Amino acid sequence: MVLLHLRVAAAAAVAYPLLRHGSRCMSTTTTAAVKEMTPTELSKLLDQQLKTDPFQKQIKLIDARERHEIEEHGRIHGALNIPFSVFKSDKDTYAAALEDVFNGIKHDDTTLVVHCMSGRRSHEVTQLAMDVGIKNSYNMVGGFKRWLADELAYEPYKNNHSPWVHTIFEPETETAQYVVADIETKEAYVIDPVLDYDAFAGTVRPNTAKAVLDYIQRRRLHVTKIIDTHVHADHLSAAIFLKNALPTKPDFWIGNKVTDVQKVFRERYNLSNGELKVTGEQFDHLVSEGESWVLGKNIQCSAIHTPGHTPACMSHRIGDAAFVGDTLFMPDIGTARCDFPGGSAEQMYQSVHKMYNAWPNDTRIFVGHDYPPANSHRSYEVMTTLEAHKRFNVMVNENISVNEYIQKRSARDKQLRAPRYIHPSLQTNLRGGNLPDNEKTPNGEQAGKFFKIPVRWAE
Ligand SMILES: *[C@@H]1O[C@H](CO)[C@@H](O)[C@H](O)[C@H]1NC(C)=O
Ligand SMILES: *[C@@H]1O[C@H](CO)[C@@H](O)[C@H](O)[C@H]1NC(C)=O
Ligand SMILES: *[C@@H]1O[C@H](CO)[C@@H](O)[C@H](O)[C@H]1NC(C)=O
Ligand SMILES: [Fe+2]
Repeated sequence: MVLLHLRVAAAAAVAYPLLRHGSRCMSTTTTAAVKEMTPTELSKLLDQQLKTDPFQKQIKLIDARERHEIEEHGRIHGALNIPFSVFKSDKDTYAAALEDVFNGIKHDDTTLVVHCMSGRRSHEVTQLAMDVGIKNSYNMVGGFKRWLADELAYEPYKNNHSPWVHTIFEPETETAQYVVADIETKEAYVIDPVLDYDAFAGTVRPNTAKAVLDYIQRRRLHVTKIIDTHVHADHLSAAIFLKNALPTKPDFWIGNKVTDVQKVFRERYNLSNGELKVTGEQFDHLVSEGESWVLGKNIQCSAIHTPGHTPACMSHRIGDAAFVGDTLFMPDIGTARCDFPGGSAEQMYQSVHKMYNAWPNDTRIFVGHDYPPANSHRSYEVMTTLEAHKRFNVMVNENISVNEYIQKRSARDKQLRAPRYIHPSLQTNLRGGNLPDNEKTPNGEQAGKFFKIPVRWAE
């Protein structure tokens, strides 16, 4: 259906010979003509996407203006900002950011539309997008000025500048790791990095984390924080490996309720105070409800406490992107499970509604995992908008009552087994990403490091 529309849009571009002439003057390196779309055509496609696409990936809209222009004039709902000044100074970085709009997933039927204030800067960006192989790229003719002249809807700036998000998906535990950067200053955070664990060999190794490291080095990012959204129970955190490997020695952040989780599991694993301190002192910073700070130049960040999956889950809004860990999953899955110690479906429902009420509708929601339903035939996806969850999330769309959700969630949780690596994960992650201390033999020799695995007779 979308493809049909686009052919119409491409044909309509013929109606703007002046701009097409302009394009010939400006592009010296490439011969392919830049395809164009009018604001009205784009607006129709965006409306249709909002109503029909749970993944909001038919159209990706790039705003190539500078941040101060957005603060002053407002923005188109859902547009992702990559400032043209970056294009001017560093095309390679700009191209990488354009590719990251797809979150590491090849979407052949996604259409990229670029706009700026008048259509000139966006023309150059569209050309670059085509050069790097994003074939379905369009320039919105006339820019935001014409969007306004056509009386199409726009929004004021809401402390929602766009960070640059790079996704590295770890398929074994189906975990999404994110590198989130301010493209202008190159300050960056790493969110939920994975340390590989081989249960048969009894080893950990940083293969996945090295891919994260390579990316950080290749893009010359200055990582100042590593954030775990919660105490993961399905994979070991690579925070300590990355912290040691990065010259910037980033701070390791986790939610301040981590101490409650430490207390619960110290008891469960019958560990002594010396074996597992329950003070949270293993982390550099315990982030609390409502805390706010700034990434790079002016990307506003804030954290909210979103318990339900675990009592210490935090969700971080970084400009127009939110990293929600294991709360919301993609709309065709619903949410994370709520049957771990201290979990609560009722709290999960409240947490999701807290996001629904606190954040702008076009906030990009980046999930902590993706488990594509067997019958969906879709590949991994990690992002859709908050509004798409309100409309399409099968468990917590805006029409579902708390009781209905609790019923759905607990029915589903009864079918789930514990994560394969739950015990090594918890016993590492509760120690701030450190393995247990070395044990010694009675004559003082190193005996090695051990995880405790509980076992009992089945009923
Ligand atoms: C359980 O923990 C307590 C307190 O650390 C310790 O004294 C006791 O030996 C532990 N039990 C076993 C079987 O290790
Ligand atoms: C956000 O999206 C929901 C669901 O589509 C809608 O009901 C609500 O009015 C929107 N809020 C705003 C402020 O536009
Ligand atoms: C929620 O209810 C309203 C009013 O009945 C309806 O228009 C809308 O489509 C419903 N949304 C979902 C996600 O079911
Ligand atoms: Fe989790």
